[in-house]
Amino acid sequence: MTGPARTLVTGATGAVGSAVLRALNAAGRPAHGVSRGGVPGRDHSVWRMGEEEPPAELRRPWDAVVHCVADTRFNLPDAEAEDANVRPLRAVLSLAGRNTHLVHLSSSFATGLEGDVSSPARDAYRNSYEWSKATAERLVHAERGHADIVRFPIVMGARADGHLDRYSGFFWLPAAMCNGAVPALVVEEKGLLDIVSSDDVATHVVQLLDGGPPDGHRLSVLGRGDGAQRVGDAFDTVLKALNTWRAEHGVPQLDPLPHVTPQQWNRFYLPFAEEYLDRVQLLRVTAFRAYQGYLSVTDPFDVTVRVPPTREVLYRSIRRWAQTHATSARRVPRPWRA
Ligand SMILES: NC(=O)c1ccc[n+]([C@@H]2O[C@H](COP(=O)([O-])OP(=O)(O)OC[C@H]3O[C@@H](n4cnc5c(N)ncnc54)[C@H](OP(=O)(O)O)[C@@H]3O)[C@@H](O)[C@H]2O)c1
Repeated sequence: MTGPARTLVTGATGAVGSAVLRALNAAGRPAHGVSRGGVPGRDHSVWRMGEEEPPAELRRPWDAVVHCVADTRFNLPDAEAEDANVRPLRAVLSLAGRNTHLVHLSSSFATGLEGDVSSPARDAYRNSYEWSKATAERLVHAERGHADIVRFPIVMGARADGHLDRYSGFFWLPAAMCNGAVPALVVEEKGLLDIVSSDDVATHVVQLLDGGPPDGHRLSVLGRGDGAQRVGDAFDTVLKALNTWRAEHGVPQLDPLPHVTPQQWNRFYLPFAEEYLDRVQLLRVTAFRAYQGYLSVTDPFDVTVRVPPTREVLYRSIRRWAQTHATSARRVPRPWRA
């Protein structure tokens, strides 16, 4: 590598990594990115972390490493989730020297069902994503004398315009609302939908790097906590964002989806669905189940960094998703029929 960058950002083509890279550049801290699928160049290396040895240009002492690699899907088999979320961390730890400032990005959901990451037991977590992210946090504690761990909830786009380099995870929701993939939303209306902007994470990471490595292990938890939008209100925001975009593009308005509680869903709707829906319909319904737990969270996250309000961020991000996924956003859902 020829450039001056001494900060390495892994997962640099992802939703968060690309925002972190932009913020570092804007702060006058040029960084070197790593991904599997990006374009190799002076400031970017292609490396399948955890599957192959690091390329020669990355084997050097780094002042800082911001580790953003992950596979955020909830439904991977356990072994695949571990390969995706733990092995790349082991690989990056091999590049970090004693003095390297490691910033490891985690998830607010890594605390699983017990509220902390200490249990290695799979059943202490809702899914393989949470479990593997908790494993990764424990690995940071075990292998590093000092490091920053940054947890945050669902990531939306930039505060100014909703831009994200990659729309995944939560964006199943607007897609499903437009194509009619789900018959109802399984939610606790009063549940909290904590979200952050990619800017919030990126700004925080730059601040951490500016302050230098901590003495030991430092945890930041970003979010709105008890100030998060209520789930019912957040769905209204999503619907409004989609419908204003659709109105501007001459596409019929979407009706609000009925809301059912998780208890109603599991007791009445799901057994009915299993009996009467065809295979494709059932697949859609059960894929949706992976997200249920997240729309029914009533205990706020204990945040250490409260981000500014997020309603506008959600609105702009959904509109931006529609703009960049116009074919999906223009779909007209067909009524569900058993
Ligand atoms: N998005 C969210 O809502 C959210 C919420 C809470 C926490 N987080 C955390 O934030 C961090 C970043 O997530 P994200 O949403 O930005 O993920 P993302 O958009 O899916 O991006 C993942 C990045 O990691 C790279 N990558 C994946 N596996 C790799 C491997 N084996 N070797 C090299 N590169 C690899 C991908 O590169 P290619 O695609 O080019 O291969 C991509 O650059 C993760 O720690 C995640 O757990 C995300």
